[in-house]
Amino acid sequence: MKSLKQFNTFNLDVKCKELLFLATEDDYARFQKISTNKILIGGGSDILLTEDYHGIVGITQNKGIEIDENSSHYIVTALAGTRWHELVTTMVNKGIGGSENLALIPGTCGAAPVQNIGAYGLEFNQLCDHINVIDKEGNNISISNEQCDFGYRTSNFKTKWKNNYIITSVSLKLSKSWQPLLDYAPLFSLKNKKNLTPKEVYDEVIRARKNKLPDPAVLGNAGSFFKNPIVSAEFFNKLFKQYPNIPFYKQDNERYKIPAGWLIDQCGLKGFCIGDAKVYEKQALVIVNKGQATPLDIVNLAKYIISSVKVKFEIDLEPEIRIYGSNGEISLGQL
Ligand code: EPU
Repeated sequence: MKSLKQFNTFNLDVKCKELLFLATEDDYARFQKISTNKILIGGGSDILLTEDYHGIVGITQNKGIEIDENSSHYIVTALAGTRWHELVTTMVNKGIGGSENLALIPGTCGAAPVQNIGAYGLEFNQLCDHINVIDKEGNNISISNEQCDFGYRTSNFKTKWKNNYIITSVSLKLSKSWQPLLDYAPLFSLKNKKNLTPKEVYDEVIRARKNKLPDPAVLGNAGSFFKNPIVSAEFFNKLFKQYPNIPFYKQDNERYKIPAGWLIDQCGLKGFCIGDAKVYEKQALVIVNKGQATPLDIVNLAKYIISSVKVKFEIDLEPEIRIYGSNGEISLGQL
């Protein structure tokens, strides 16, 4: 058995039967042909491995960025194993704007479309042109943005295409007439700044993230553990009467997104521990591994959080991260 400790940002010492490093298109094609249980891991920053995996794990390691342009846009293609933050940094250092609000998000470019990563008012799908994949028959095909059916922290790669495709690279389309996105509170201070550059927004995003989110290299974690729940206007209005200070984001469809971090915080759970798993003090949406947490500590803490929020607010929290058992992806309820 091979340890996956350095391939999941919770730093859990879970093992798998076989570990393969995928560095070339051929490696990806061979991996796609494997018919036994298998999972592909990028940065390992959005997963919880709950027990030893009875299958093969592929680690994406093909790295590289290519920039093309036409009169109005840059078309940027990044190989799946490229770190997302490295892509954003490369763009910003070349003066190419558009991706800076997504600075410092852990993980790889190949994983970005799966859960449609997002932060500070921007989501991956707003940048995506197309995704290059290998299908089950071994063909290299290109999938358009529209086909992916992107939503809040979801896409067809996470749902109906699960296990169908292996993403080999992603192509972004970044406009040459850059407009900063500053609608999110930590970026308000930049609103009146003259001649603002993508680099200045990038620096501010990094500052805001470092203030609130733990560095996985120091304290094991997988970012937001839960999704922000989206509720009906009727439900929200009731809640608002009781909690006039509740933060919210109004959605296009008359629904309201409520920060799960705030709900957990209101339950008084910041700093709460089960074993070595802890609700992070600066951002209650993040569960951290204090050092020796077992998968069960994290599972039990997640369940405790879900039931506390349910009792206090009548809201069901859903994990944002993907959870794996010995034979593949599972739900928290199965544990
Ligand atoms: N809040 C609290 N207590 C907390 C945490 C948050 O009161 O413990 C309040 C904050 O004061 C704020 C609101 O809740 O009013 C929202 O908090 P924050 O700005 O930290 O953002 P979030 O909604 O909790 C989302 C994403 C993050 C992303 C940030 C910034 C999800 C699940 N999470 O968090 O994404 O970085 O917005 O845009 O949508 C991730 O996906 O792993 C991730 C970190």
